[in-house]
Amino acid sequence: MIPYCSICWDIDKVKLLDQRQLPREEIYLEITDYREIIEAIRTLAIRGAPAIGVAAAMGAALGALALKTEDPKEFADQFGDICREIAAARPTAVNLFWALDRVQAVARAHAGEPVAQVKERLVAEAQVMLKEDETINRHMGQAGQVVIPEGARVLTHCNTGALATGAYGTALGVMRAAWEAGKRFSVWVDETRPLLQGARLTTWELGKIGIPYTLIPDGAAAAVMSKGLVDLAIVGADRIAANGDTANKIGTYGVAVLCHHHGIPFYVAAPLSTFDFSIPDGSHIPVEERAGAEVTHLWGQPLAPADAAALNLAFDVTPNELIAGIITEKGVMRPPYSSSLKPYRHGKD
Ligand code: MRU
Repeated sequence: MIPYCSICWDIDKVKLLDQRQLPREEIYLEITDYREIIEAIRTLAIRGAPAIGVAAAMGAALGALALKTEDPKEFADQFGDICREIAAARPTAVNLFWALDRVQAVARAHAGEPVAQVKERLVAEAQVMLKEDETINRHMGQAGQVVIPEGARVLTHCNTGALATGAYGTALGVMRAAWEAGKRFSVWVDETRPLLQGARLTTWELGKIGIPYTLIPDGAAAAVMSKGLVDLAIVGADRIAANGDTANKIGTYGVAVLCHHHGIPFYVAAPLSTFDFSIPDGSHIPVEERAGAEVTHLWGQPLAPADAAALNLAFDVTPNELIAGIITEKGVMRPPYSSSLKPYRHGKD
């Protein structure tokens, strides 16, 4: 049992673990205003594609509860405006838009009912989405743990655990399922510059599960692989195009290229809610560019001259040909992805 949760609904408010403070402090934010959810997503108090999706749905529910009108048409218009505001929080993780589409579909399907009842439905839907995310991640873990052999040395990048999801995790969930199945293995954790999701969060989560890990600077992955110390890599995803091209935390593409060079299988683990079948390939994925200060500074302290220019792309795109398999709740998809993913496109185009 893991004694923390990334996000939950608590009667009339949202509680979320402030990931900016980890691993130093475990502080839960209590949020009643959807604008604070937007701020929490923007500033990475809550982050990771599936967790962002759940936060967006809960933010939309908070926004709906605060609306004063009893008129269904006015309610629908104002709720649409709130969802559009939330959608602008971050651009890359498609789960954000998937979640907002889903709550808006609920509002539309019940547009004839009294506003109070629609609000209740939206709160309930957000909670269902949280629960479903855990179930999906557990299925993904079961489906994916077969790729981790006994005694393996697994490399991962960024954070993909319970913190990054409603519960359990995606890539880290696959590792957790393998561990719970009795396999013993160890993990190389890329620190994940510039915001150190690997160093701060993945280490913290692996430590709580009890999986042994070693933290490395991102630049050390090549040397560790060249010494024959990595058997496979598993990472998460923020958006996967119809052909399997995958956007994930900046640095992931480099890990995939290194794996290819060293003949190491490179896996992606993500739920179907992270697939964007409306785009044919990764060139259509919008990549978030964040403030340069996240690169030039750490904890408010300058690391570079005051006038240093910095490029802060939050994500990169790994071409599908570098991916040995995409682990989903429906099983491990193998290349060519345009064929193996085809049965799951239904309704998502
Ligand atoms: O900027 P972040 O921390 O939200 O980026 C998170 C990632 O890139 C994760 O690897 C991805 O969302 C998968 S999380 C299960």
